[in-house]
Amino acid sequence: MKIAETIQEVREQVKEWRKQGLSVGLVPTMGYLHEGHKSLIDCAVAQNDKVVVSVFVNPMQFGPTEDLATYPRDLERDAALCEAAGADLIFHPQPEEMYHDDFSSFVDMNTLTGGLCGKTRPIHFRGVCTIVAKLFNIVTPDRAYFGQKDAQQLAVIRHMVSDLNFGIEIVGCPIIREEDGLAKSSRNTYLSAEERKAALVLSQSLKEGKALLDAGEKNAEKIRQVITEKINSEPLAKIDYVETVDWNTLEPVDTIEGPVLVAIAVYIGKTRLIDNIIRQ
Ligand code: PAF
Repeated sequence: MKIAETIQEVREQVKEWRKQGLSVGLVPTMGYLHEGHKSLIDCAVAQNDKVVVSVFVNPMQFGPTEDLATYPRDLERDAALCEAAGADLIFHPQPEEMYHDDFSSFVDMNTLTGGLCGKTRPIHFRGVCTIVAKLFNIVTPDRAYFGQKDAQQLAVIRHMVSDLNFGIEIVGCPIIREEDGLAKSSRNTYLSAEERKAALVLSQSLKEGKALLDAGEKNAEKIRQVITEKINSEPLAKIDYVETVDWNTLEPVDTIEGPVLVAIAVYIGKTRLIDNIIRQ
């Protein structure tokens, strides 16, 4: 498995593969890979002849008070995981390679990005869309893989691909959880032992919401209430949002009829964690 630092190296490699008629899958990541990323790579390896994993902590998607500087990084470990999972190339550019000094073009979206995480992270999705569009143009994959844990991101990327006619299939992969239910996330490493225990309230509260959905509850407010109460019972938890939205438009719903996304963002101490359930 190769590690490429430049756009040119990636382009040359992909060109070579294309000459041989091989299909290419892309798994975009910010590194510090865990089982969740591994499941994306596994899926990509199963569906494509060659797999590129990008490892790039994208400065453009972090707000000024967010954790860009402290975001965990470990390329050696990431490379070992990618190699063991059967990836063919890691693309690990420096920020200067992706954003030259006079960089001034962005991909932005009027719908889907204003609510949920977009409310407290106003520039986040502009940064995500811009870097993902750049990665799509550099790697030109047949398919790209995104985790359902970042459900809003998955919906936004699907919309961008449709709006801008990228000929790329977007594959959404299920949330991978720790044995006790906590959704895997690179940010889980920020949690102290006490916070790690408290963080369980995210998946537990969603479990209660899911039980209501399974029992046929159609009142979205009722589901939000049950989840909110459960989270509020944990002293270390502070709610950013608990939302019940249409899974296609991400607009809030009152009555659950079609596909629905129940999404939460919760601070455990200083660490902001997200989780969700999707009912198709
Ligand atoms: O989900 C992530 O890790 C990032 O938002 C992504 C898609 C790699 C873009 O930087």
